[in-house]
Amino acid sequence: MSNLIAPSILAADFANLQRDIEMVNTSEADWFHIDIMDGVFVPNISFGMPVLKAITKHAKKTVDVHLMIVDPDRYIQTFADLGADVLTVHYEACTHLHRTVQAIKAAGMKAGVALNPHTPIAVLEDIIADLDLVCLMSVNPGFGGQSFIPNTYKKVRQLSHLIEFVNSDCKIEIDGGVTNKNANALIEAGADVLVAGSFVFKSENPTATISDLKNIVG
Ligand code: DX5
Ligand code: ZN
Repeated sequence: MSNLIAPSILAADFANLQRDIEMVNTSEADWFHIDIMDGVFVPNISFGMPVLKAITKHAKKTVDVHLMIVDPDRYIQTFADLGADVLTVHYEACTHLHRTVQAIKAAGMKAGVALNPHTPIAVLEDIIADLDLVCLMSVNPGFGGQSFIPNTYKKVRQLSHLIEFVNSDCKIEIDGGVTNKNANALIEAGADVLVAGSFVFKSENPTATISDLKNIVG
């Protein structure tokens, strides 16, 4: 399977949101990556339900929702109703992660868990077999446009081994500071899904930038 590209809508032009969504629809991108921040788990507030509803109305590809919020259990059904296909919660935000993961699946979505840059892969040992996706944060969550943290490469390799060990088809997603400078090495280390915000939307030709990322291996 080739790598998947997930443009992060956080970096889109919110005054031209429909235009940017159509750009992703007609591009070689695979997923929409949607960042929900609550101003508590992370020091920033992005957008909430009404904006997500507007996005899913127009999005023709998999909607990958990344929750940077405390106590995400409160909203699992709401995100399912709003059209999320993949719902990712933070390991650091869940006291009963196993229960949360089961609830996401019971609501009909794929379940993802995100790890902050300082959180070791080993904490996933006893949950990995239940996951559809692990999102490795390659920046501290909260803002787009930050620099990629190189320690991520090591974590991708460790996670790859863990997934192989339990013989699961859990995908590895990388989120934060992804560009054409690190995409190839990330894929080679074992990444499946590359999230890219600023690198796509701040480029002169976002459609071409998405294609560049998509075809970077080889
Ligand atoms: C960071 C978000 C990322 C962000 C990525 O908290 O989770 O998804 O939008 O943006 P870039 O690609 O600009 O680092
Ligand atoms: Zn994200």
